[in-house]
Amino acid sequence: METMGNLRRTHYCGTLREANVDENVVLMGWVQKRRSLGGLVFVDLRDTEGICQIVFDPDAQANLFEKASSLRSEFVIAVKGVVKPRESVNLELPSGKIEVVADELRILDTAETPPIYIKDDDGVSETKRLQYRYLDLRKPSMQNRLKLRAKVAKIVRDFYEENRFVEVETPMLNKPTPEGARDYLVPSRVNPGKFYALPQSPQIMKQLLMVSGMDRYYQIVKCFRDEDLRANRQPEFTQIDVEMSFVDVEDIIELHEKLITRIFKEIRGVEFEMPFMRLTYKEAMERFGSDKPDLRFGSEITDLASVFAHSEFKVFSSALEGGGTIRAINAKGCATAFSKKGISKLEKHAKLYGAKGLIWVRKTEEGVESSILKFLKDTEIEALFETMDAEAGDMIFLVSGEYDTTVTALGQLRLEIARKMEWLNPDEFKLLWITEFPVFEYSKEEDRYMAKHHPFTHPMEEDIEKMETDPKNARAKAYDIVINGEEIGGGSIRINNGELQAKMFKALGFTEEEAMHQFGFLINAFRFGTPPHGGIAFGLDRLVMTLTGTENIRDVVAFPKTQSATCLMTDAPTTISEQQLDEAHIRVEIEEKE
Ligand code: AMO
Repeated sequence: METMGNLRRTHYCGTLREANVDENVVLMGWVQKRRSLGGLVFVDLRDTEGICQIVFDPDAQANLFEKASSLRSEFVIAVKGVVKPRESVNLELPSGKIEVVADELRILDTAETPPIYIKDDDGVSETKRLQYRYLDLRKPSMQNRLKLRAKVAKIVRDFYEENRFVEVETPMLNKPTPEGARDYLVPSRVNPGKFYALPQSPQIMKQLLMVSGMDRYYQIVKCFRDEDLRANRQPEFTQIDVEMSFVDVEDIIELHEKLITRIFKEIRGVEFEMPFMRLTYKEAMERFGSDKPDLRFGSEITDLASVFAHSEFKVFSSALEGGGTIRAINAKGCATAFSKKGISKLEKHAKLYGAKGLIWVRKTEEGVESSILKFLKDTEIEALFETMDAEAGDMIFLVSGEYDTTVTALGQLRLEIARKMEWLNPDEFKLLWITEFPVFEYSKEEDRYMAKHHPFTHPMEEDIEKMETDPKNARAKAYDIVINGEEIGGGSIRINNGELQAKMFKALGFTEEEAMHQFGFLINAFRFGTPPHGGIAFGLDRLVMTLTGTENIRDVVAFPKTQSATCLMTDAPTTISEQQLDEAHIRVEIEEKE
């Protein structure tokens, strides 16, 4: 094998252009492809900036030509040569108008045939790609995503520095934090039987930094949550985490609209108009059946109680009598888009979210078709079309039943139709704030109210009373920012008053001892003068997903975990040696599954 010797790289392959013609250059990289043609050897040489064609001419140097003929894919080489205009221009390559005529070649390392092709759209399964992630990352699309992610992080750091925030690191070995997922635990060797929890977020630490008088904190930080994984969730993910003193909701929202605007302008060249759109949680549920609505398309949910107030259709009348609701969406132009089978798939989807069934009414040039035609009076059909703003070619989907499940099912159906109809354009960005989240969320499993956000979230002043009298309708000073149906960030104003905090713990069913056991250090800290404060955290991974138009969080993480929280490349998690277990005072007993 050869070394670089006295060769020093002068250029990156992908950056050479016509302006470099006649320059002597030294390039280093991987062989993308070698081919022999017309007595010459051509090599596509790849580095992090892209590809450049190299030519080896036997007439120039015979032994160089022989060496070039031995090159294979993914060999690592250094080439010295002169940039020349190319005879057959390749417009697909940014460097396609030039080539480098080689006069020196060094093979720095050979390579076995790679198990995956190093090119985008290789058709290889994600499992294989994750197993050989270091090869997968050689692809231009993956390199570009990681570079874009780093650029976003830089914009974020610059922005906060300009606004006099201080980046402070917070511990990874912690007491459990209150974000509501399961903790990842780390045994303490020196404290037998005791465990640290990895942070689900730096929530408590950043609040303590406000008690410390840091005034404005930020951190780009790893967080860990042991929860069911989805396309937009990783067990370890990155937050852009922020806390500010002496602020209210408007201050945080206003500042962060500027940050988001700057990121999208610099990365995607998109201009957002400030202030961003806002919907209260209640409005969002009512109109879109979701607290993270995708606004790239319409089909809003409409209340049909007045249309069917006197319906003889049992399903409708009993829904209304039972205090429930009848709602619908208009799938514009979809009258013939879904076959019988297609509709039954949509119904299955709605049922996943609690709908008891899915009713459809189709408006065509010829008239009306419906799954419940015989139960519909002409006047009802007329009123339905009018209320739904339906034209010939539209398809209306109706769900009836209890309010929460009805709007949620229709909201999910709305999204599913948009996916099927390809209405979701990744290059269009629709963003909004959701405000006035409920303070509490009722847990059927635990039969009690839980914090919707976390127990330090400040209720809206006018709803403090409701914490006791009407907890379901108590609203919080909490907000999320949503882009294209993805929750990319959320935060709240915090309680900075002991009395109110005690009221909150009581409403959540904590005894004083329990509250002290879990959060005693924070409660104690708050006794010594706590500024009004609040903050927000963005999911950096999700933000980059939106910016790159991918729906798979693994595309924007260098070394991600699978849906079952494993790393296919390193094989983590693994069993550990008896000795390590002993040192950590852990005995493993695995229950056999029946
Ligand atoms: P929250 O729990 O809403 O708030 O998290 C903030 C943002 O982090 C992202 N996120 C995730 N991204 C990838 N994988 C996950 N498993 C995951 N979980 C969350 C989301 C989310 O909007 N301490 C509060 C913030 C605050 O109140 O200041 C918090 O962590 O984009």
